[in-house]
Amino acid sequence: MRPIRIALTKGRLEKRTVKLFESIGFDCKQLINKGRRLILPVESYEVVLAKAADVITYVENGVCDIGIVGKDTIAEYGHSFYEVLDLGFGKCRFALAGKKGVDFWSGYNAKCIATKYPNIARQFFEKKGMDVKVIKIEGSVELAPLLGLTDAIVDIVETGATLKENGLEIIEEIMPISARVIVNMASMKLRKNEIENLLLDIEVAKEVGI
Ligand code: PRP
Repeated sequence: MRPIRIALTKGRLEKRTVKLFESIGFDCKQLINKGRRLILPVESYEVVLAKAADVITYVENGVCDIGIVGKDTIAEYGHSFYEVLDLGFGKCRFALAGKKGVDFWSGYNAKCIATKYPNIARQFFEKKGMDVKVIKIEGSVELAPLLGLTDAIVDIVETGATLKENGLEIIEEIMPISARVIVNMASMKLRKNEIENLLLDIEVAKEVGI
């Protein structure tokens, strides 16, 4: 049988996860000195480095058993897996934001929203019974209202510095976000013990504090 595979979101969550693994006592040398390699051994596990949305794809399809990914990506891309643990890091929030001092809610015209997360944005406005036009932007979403493309954005806010430095402000908070552990549904049954052992290690390390 192949080793248990963990799909890990590259970037910020990767760094925090390495710390978490080290506090469990895992040898992360290969993961830290990975060079351009994408599959790294960590103890008896295989760690796969991937973009957030791809972590979900690999776990949903069972080629990875476990995933570490932000709640933002989970909320946007799907639910065909078990979400088993909140890691408590990677904390930020989804918010609706627009130009400072502009009343977003006034007027009767249909609003236009820029976002990297069209499903989150649509659901948010559907709940309010508002019809909006959503435009998908791949990065630096804050540019869209500044350039006059949209009335507002739905995006991740962490420190709030990006909004502030660009003359934008939060109109309404949408939901809190943090890193989560997800598990493939079949793996949870077929490799229950191995997965439960890893989850237990993570929970203990989390409680001790990382
Ligand atoms: C995210 C998000 C905001 C920024 C918020 O972008 O889209 O732009 O971080 O962080 P802050 O509240 O601490 O300023 P990211 O840095 O991931 O880059 P991207 O815009 O290219 O996706």
